[in-house]
Amino acid sequence: MEGAHNGRAWAATTATCLLLDPGEMHQKLRYPKWVYLSFLLMMLGHSYSSSRHMTVDPPHNLKIVDPGFLGHLNLQWQPPLTLGMFQHCTVQYELRYRNVDSEDWETIITKKLNYEDGFDLNQGVEAKIQTLLTGHCTNGSDVHSKWIQTSFWIPLQGEPETKIQEMQCINYNWKSLHCTWKPGEKIPKGANYNLYYWYKGLDRAVQCADYIESNGRHVGCQFPSMELAEYQDFNICVNGSSLALPLRASYFSFQLQNIVKPSPPEQLNLTQRNPEELHLEWKPPEGPVPSHCLTYEVQFQEDDASWVSRSTEKEMITLQKSNGSRRFCIWVRDKVNIYCANEGFWSEWSSQQCLEEQQDDDSWLLFIIIPVTLIMLNAILVASLLVQKQRTCLKQVLGKKEVHFYHEAIY
Ligand SMILES: *[C@@H]1O[C@H](CO)[C@@H](O)[C@H](O)[C@H]1NC(C)=O
Ligand SMILES: *[C@@H]1O[C@H](CO)[C@@H](O)[C@H](O)[C@H]1NC(C)=O
Ligand SMILES: *[C@@H]1O[C@H](CO)[C@@H](O)[C@H](O)[C@H]1NC(C)=O
Repeated sequence: MEGAHNGRAWAATTATCLLLDPGEMHQKLRYPKWVYLSFLLMMLGHSYSSSRHMTVDPPHNLKIVDPGFLGHLNLQWQPPLTLGMFQHCTVQYELRYRNVDSEDWETIITKKLNYEDGFDLNQGVEAKIQTLLTGHCTNGSDVHSKWIQTSFWIPLQGEPETKIQEMQCINYNWKSLHCTWKPGEKIPKGANYNLYYWYKGLDRAVQCADYIESNGRHVGCQFPSMELAEYQDFNICVNGSSLALPLRASYFSFQLQNIVKPSPPEQLNLTQRNPEELHLEWKPPEGPVPSHCLTYEVQFQEDDASWVSRSTEKEMITLQKSNGSRRFCIWVRDKVNIYCANEGFWSEWSSQQCLEEQQDDDSWLLFIIIPVTLIMLNAILVASLLVQKQRTCLKQVLGKKEVHFYHEAIY
């Protein structure tokens, strides 16, 4: 009785949560409040009228089993011991599970006696399950058992400060997976780390075969080709050992397509079509990243102005040039787009392409100004030499006074 009541309380809580889900609030708030209230009351009323006097046994022996797949766990249970008046009903189970630090439960309704999913083993896992009967076998009302519950923790070993730090995994150009980390803040002398990984298709966790080392300690792993491991959970555990003390293990889980850092675009070709328009084309990087999976960011700079960004899905862009700018520089980078992955890293920038305006007017002028100036300077030089010479001659012939007179006359 109390169990069924509890079950309904859960249903009611879920209903409230659904209504207040911030993601959907925007759309849902358009309806007046009383709509939700009456819906809620209806749900509560329904629960009191229907299942108060009809209960069924819960499933039993709910277990969380760790097959050693670094986070991929198996939830298992047994059917209710008796079904009482519901002998002929189809039995379903409502399973809820979560990591203990998570606010939301995953909810599954199934007729099976087990369920698998991925969890974060840095945290505990909890699960609960109830028997669920619906349909005409229960005269149209839902019948729930009470919940049974269980939880699971990987045995914690070692001090938290012995855990690795700053783990970073990158799938370079969708081809070569590397993970790197820093050792924990406080690790015993002679301790070392080991990396294990698993994805569906491997029958057990496999240790890294090609470690990256620094000061004799493992600080990273280069994985072999991982083509079969995309679009599914890829689980990693970095644990370790020392003679003195165990080290704290860390768990990670991601999908390989979501950590791709592509190579930069290639063969940039920048051309000027007319005085105000520039056109840039490029090629996607060589390698396994399908070109329809890439999105691009183009950055350009005119003279000394700041860089301006544009996004595009195509392998080309046409840009308007400002009046009077002389130098135009541009580069492109790429990233896996939302059609092929949920997230990813930007590539490095491509090589930079620049167009410098032929300084037509100015060079024209320079070609005139320089020779003209030279000729004029020359003429002045010759003229002053002539004057100097004449003055000397006159001095000899006429004497000081007349020279002065002559001099004043010139000016
Ligand atoms: C369903 O209704 C029928 C007739 O109204 C009744 O005989 C039967 O016991 C009811 N079953 C349950 C599970 O309440
Ligand atoms: C590290 O994890 C692997 C895979 O789970 C396990 O086989 C190994 O015994 C662990 N090593 C230590 C020292 O805990
Ligand atoms: C550039 O110059 C052209 C013609 O001289 C003029 O029509 C246009 O408005 C100018 N554009 C800008 C952005 O100044």
